[in-house]
Formats: sequence, structure tokens, C-alpha cells
Amino acid sequence: MSSIRPHNSSLPPTKILLADDDSLVRDAVVKILELFGHQVIAVDDGRAALNLVSDDIDTIILDINMPGMNGFETIKALNEKKSDIPVLFLTGAGSMEFAVKAINLGAYDFISKPIEDLDLFDVKIRRAIEKKMFLRREKTYKENLENEVRKKTKELAEKNLLLEKYSHHLEVSSVNTIITLNTALEEKDQYTAGHTKRVTEYSKIIGMAMGLPREDIDVLTRACQLHDIGKLVIDVSCIQKPGPLSDEEWILVKKHPEIGENIIKPLNFLEREGEIVRHHHERLDGQGYPDGLVGDQINLLTKIVTVADSFDAMTSKRSYKINMSKDEAVAELRAHCNTQFDPLVVESFAYILSRSAAKS
Ligand SMILES: [Fe+2]
Repeated sequence: MSSIRPHNSSLPPTKILLADDDSLVRDAVVKILELFGHQVIAVDDGRAALNLVSDDIDTIILDINMPGMNGFETIKALNEKKSDIPVLFLTGAGSMEFAVKAINLGAYDFISKPIEDLDLFDVKIRRAIEKKMFLRREKTYKENLENEVRKKTKELAEKNLLLEKYSHHLEVSSVNTIITLNTALEEKDQYTAGHTKRVTEYSKIIGMAMGLPREDIDVLTRACQLHDIGKLVIDVSCIQKPGPLSDEEWILVKKHPEIGENIIKPLNFLEREGEIVRHHHERLDGQGYPDGLVGDQINLLTKIVTVADSFDAMTSKRSYKINMSKDEAVAELRAHCNTQFDPLVVESFAYILSRSAAKS
């Protein structure tokens, strides 16, 4: 005794695609499926079924022997299309061999015809439909998950970009504040006005002539802008006084590289600049300050700042001495190569100066 349970009308109807060339069998199966509440699309050959396959089909029922494309060819074509719709085969009595072949080809189940046990038929159809519904839910879940991950990744990337921009802006603002203070300090003294600007320019052209990468030029630029920042906390009267400094005043002035490094130390992104600020009065022979570094213990960027700084000091008017000409200053730099200055840096600078002198 079969129990026919009509389809629940609150749910969308389940759609079954049926291919059988025998119109009697086809009509009978359609009638039973409709009684069970399914929507049925019935065709008489595999090719026609294949043309009607879409993702809203819940189950496919295929006869084996059909003119044109038979059941086995149809399931092979479905496999090639990577269809995940469960396929049930209609097999005649005693054709177990066909049923096994169908299962081996990926069929979900088989139904013996004529259909006598409606309960069993109903169970097999329902199982196949549930399988498809599960696959559909799984696919939707996976897609939603992927979309969610994609959305979150995008949001995170946008937030990171915003943070990076904000952090860069903060970095620039911090450096600019210090540079403004330094400029204000320099401008108070006619003998030091413009010193930082010139040292920065000289260092940049030396760095570029030596083929330094962009990142190094940026570090060099910032280091030059900050190199004498330590003088902010030294009593300027001793820096600006006419005539040479006393021993005590020298001790005080010689503290400015360390003080400068300490001022910018809290700004972690200025680590490389901090090292240059600390060492811009070192000498190759170890007679510099504050650490008495020797030779290549002083990095290239620092060697460049040292040359640019000394050149500007020699060629600018100071309160206690007459300034040198550019040629005299270059000669002085050369005279102190390998003791105070790096010869490669000095010669690079001398070359640029000679070229710009030739142009003017
Ligand atoms: Fe200095």
C-alpha cells in the first residue's frame, strides 16, 4: 500500500527532469511524480534532457535505451558538464548489469520499471532531491563565506591604507614641527641662517651623484634637516659669540649630536636619521665625537652629511672667521681626506661643484 504525500505548498515545487522514449512509461512516471507534488519536465531522449538541464532541476530520471542519446551517453555528458544533479536510472527487470554500469558512471540510484512499489519510488526520489538540496545549500554557504571573507579582507585593506596614510601624515607633521623649530633657531643668528637648508641641498646632490636609492636620499634629506637639532637646547649665546669658543663652551657644543639623537629618539621611524644625527661630527681617524668611530664604522650617509656640513661651515660667514671660497673649501676637504672625510664623497662633491662652476 503506497502513501501519497502531496508536496508542501509553502515550499517552491521540486523540479524533476525525465527522459524516456516510451510514452506509456513516461506518462505513468509523470503522473506519479505529479501526485507526489513534483513539477516534471518530460522529454523522449537524452539530448533533449541535456538541453534542458539547469541548476533549478532537483533530480534527473533517465531511461537507458533511447534513440539519439541513450542514458549512459547522457550521464557521461552530464559528468563532463560537472553537473551535480543526482541522476536516477529507469531499468527494466533483470537488467542488473545495466544498473551496476549506471552506478559506476556516477548514477545516484536506479528505479526498476514497471514501478510497482510507490513507497520505495517515493523514498528514492526524495533522497535524490534531498541530496541536491544539500549540495545547493552547501554551495550557497560556501559562496556566502567566500563573499564575507572577500568583504572583510577588502575592509581590512582599506582600514590599513587609511592607517598608513594617517601614520605617514603624523610622521611628516612631527618632522615638520621639529624642522620649523630648527629653522626658527637658525634664523635668529645671521651667521647660521640657511645652514641646514644648504647642508641638505649639498648632501642630496652628493647622494644622487653617488647613485643612492630613493629611500636613502629621503633618509639623508631628513637627517640633514635634523642634524643640528641638538643645538636647540644649548645656550645659543655660546654658539653665536664672536671669536673661538672656550674649552667649557666646546664641551657644551660637542654634546649637540647626542642631544639631537635623544630629541628624535621617541620617533621610531627616524631610527636611521637618529644614527646620522649622532655621528655627523665623527672623523675617519677616530678623532671625532661623540663615539670616536673609525673608518667604515661611520656609514656612507653620515660621511656625506659630514662633508656637506663642513663645506658649508667653511664657505659661510661665521662670527669669528672669514669664509673661504668654494675652491679653497674643496682644497681643504681634499687635504683632510682619510683623516676627517671620505675621499669618494669628497671627490663626488668636488666633481659636481666643478661642473656647476663650468656651467655658470
Ligand atoms: Fe653639527
